Amino acid sequence: MRKVRFTDSLRIIARGSLNWPAGRPIVVSFEVTDSCSCYCKHCDHGGPRDDSRLLKPADYRRYMEALKPCVVQVSGGEPLLRDDVVEIVRAIKNGSTVPYTILVSNWSHMTEEKYLALHDAGIDQFSVSLDFPDDRHDAFRSYPGLYSQLETLVPRLARHGFDDIVLNSCITSENVGEIGRLADKARAWGVNLCYSSYSARRTGCRDYSLTTPEQLGVLNTELDRVEARRDDTNWLVNAPSTIASMRQFFENGKMPGCRAGHRFLVVTSEGWLQPCSMVFKKWRLEDRAKIAEEFTNTNTCDECYVSIRSYLDKSFPQLLWENVSGFLSVKSS
Ligand SMILES: C[S@@+](CC[C@H](N)C(=O)[O-])C[C@H]1O[C@@H](n2cnc3c(N)ncnc32)[C@H](O)[C@@H]1O
Ligand code: SF4
Ligand code: SF4
Repeated sequence: MRKVRFTDSLRIIARGSLNWPAGRPIVVSFEVTDSCSCYCKHCDHGGPRDDSRLLKPADYRRYMEALKPCVVQVSGGEPLLRDDVVEIVRAIKNGSTVPYTILVSNWSHMTEEKYLALHDAGIDQFSVSLDFPDDRHDAFRSYPGLYSQLETLVPRLARHGFDDIVLNSCITSENVGEIGRLADKARAWGVNLCYSSYSARRTGCRDYSLTTPEQLGVLNTELDRVEARRDDTNWLVNAPSTIASMRQFFENGKMPGCRAGHRFLVVTSEGWLQPCSMVFKKWRLEDRAKIAEEFTNTNTCDECYVSIRSYLDKSFPQLLWENVSGFLSVKSS
């Protein structure tokens, strides 16, 4: 995975050092639409939604000025369904290298032209969901032809050489045996890989949770094999401590200590602040200081270990070290 230039790393770290003691979020996820092109088995989005009150690209500047995050996710629903997604990214970046900005998408509507326009607008990382290393992906996402589209497009766009594409594989009971083959696919396509953990909180469905000793055994064996393939190119984007915590999350079925609403938050497509994408309490931007007091400080929810949490359940020194030695430009020994 491409490392951020040293001067840009320092800018991101400087902003984080101000946000951490000030209680401002480190990561903000903008869900730019609730509509989606897929109907995934593990998700509560799916299909079209009322998009009549969406924030406009220019509105995102106001959120950026107030929240000043170090890292932004542009997500949804499916963000590429918005025709103005490039303008949204430009408004978020405002010509600067900070924040580090990740587009989280299923790539149903990705093209070479859009990829290059988004890269120019300032996307640092393209996170592409992939649940299976073959066309079982289409069935899981209810989108015929999606896998073959990815199979053509991902390696082709990787050849531009920006090293900014990361496959994002959410581990469920259905694909736990595919962890190694998903890694093979990332290597064959010349891109990076990040695992995340299924949470039943979104849909209430426990069918995709890992509940049996057999499933947990497969998880640990597959993760051991993938971890043995880790090298200093950072193609396996999850930090070792994150993989260890994912194992714990699946083993215990929970992960306490969530800082949603404090270290990270979601801005909904209509501009409400939410602690995370699975807790539907809402605050206005002007009332952001109340979220920690009214939600985070008494939150006992422990039902997920999604990526945004897994980055931020750490102390600031640990977070800095992992990022400095991982994404950012100083190499670990
Ligand atoms: C909600 S989607 C939004 C962006 C885009 N539509 C996509 O699929 O990449 C973001 C990520 O959440 C993951 N996801 C969906 N349902 C989940 C669940 N119940 N638990 C954990 N992750 C989930 C998806 O696999 C995807 O990688
Ligand atoms: S995981 Fe992404 S693609 Fe699938 S339904 Fe949810 S938002 Fe849509
Ligand atoms: S554990 Fe935290 S991030 Fe996850 S669903 Fe609960 S409140 Fe949201």
